[in-house]
Amino acid sequence: MSPSLRPRRSVLYMPGINLRALEKAKTLATDCVIFDLEDSVAPDEKEAARGQVVSALKTGGYGSRELIIRTNGLATPWGNDDVIAAIDAGADGILVPKVSSAEDIAAATKAMDDAGAPVAMTLWAMIETPLAILNIQEIAQTAQVPEARLTTWVLGTNDLAKETGAHLTEDRLPMLSWLSTCVAAASAYNLSLIDGVYNDFRNLDGFRNECTQGKSLGMDGKTLIHPGQIEPCNDIFSPDEDEIKQVREIIAAFDLPENSDKGVITLNGVMVERLHADMARRKLAIWQEIEKLSQGQVD
Ligand code: COA
Ligand code: MG
Repeated sequence: MSPSLRPRRSVLYMPGINLRALEKAKTLATDCVIFDLEDSVAPDEKEAARGQVVSALKTGGYGSRELIIRTNGLATPWGNDDVIAAIDAGADGILVPKVSSAEDIAAATKAMDDAGAPVAMTLWAMIETPLAILNIQEIAQTAQVPEARLTTWVLGTNDLAKETGAHLTEDRLPMLSWLSTCVAAASAYNLSLIDGVYNDFRNLDGFRNECTQGKSLGMDGKTLIHPGQIEPCNDIFSPDEDEIKQVREIIAAFDLPENSDKGVITLNGVMVERLHADMARRKLAIWQEIEKLSQGQVD
């Protein structure tokens, strides 16, 4: 499956040091797992966590879930060894924290290339600094060449709040413009965009509201911190019948011989552009993968 067609509705973080969580993930219906070596692991546990994560991935049992290792920053004492370990472990990709510029992407790609990462291994980037928001287009643009490996952004809303002083309110009004800016940039360059975590993990009503908001903004999925968040998240980020119908109509309309050379048409009284048809095809392909997952993933 092409990395850009992978379903990324639910993306569950787990601290690399938490053996119980590493084991439990094998039974959870999460589309992706992020094995965290960064913020959730204390400095004196970094090496132990790395070793555990490598051995969990090598032992396997995670089925079709996309497996991502969040490394420490490349400028830290652990970052480069984390990248090497992720390659050794056979992870599907790495997630690099605190990316703020196109150069940061280039450095991460180079670290992967230098360590002999296979061509299919992908790069994910945390968008969590004020500078990343200001430089969002140049960061997105790096994804134009597949050699950069960049497929996915993960929003670090806790870090953004901490760095800026913006409050983490239920309606997220203080950071709404940043969220939408990221959606625009990710869409322009075909990146998956995964929303930030919802900290109050026992509050499932609040969590559902934030998932719904993220979906309506255009996010592909949400990062999660607790297994209880997976089911509502998958539910909200799966397409409903109306969406599927609409997407099929757009594809069918552009497939008509009389529309074959048109850039824009009218469908049900609304203007639809060819770019909508391209997006519709991609969405449909991802939804077909979601369908396969729901039939085969949960143990
Ligand atoms: N991944 C996998 N399993 C998890 C999990 C996670 N992120 N969080 C909890 N679990 C498991 C627990 O091990 C426990 O399993 P068990 O009952 O089969 O033994 C079960 O889910 C219930 O956990 P619960 O007791 O409700 O939560 P907790 O108090 O153990 O943990 C947190 C709460 C927040 C500390 C924990 O969920 C966590 O560490 N989340 C991830 C944090 C993280 O990675 N942050 C970095 C990015 S922001
Ligand atoms: Mg962070």
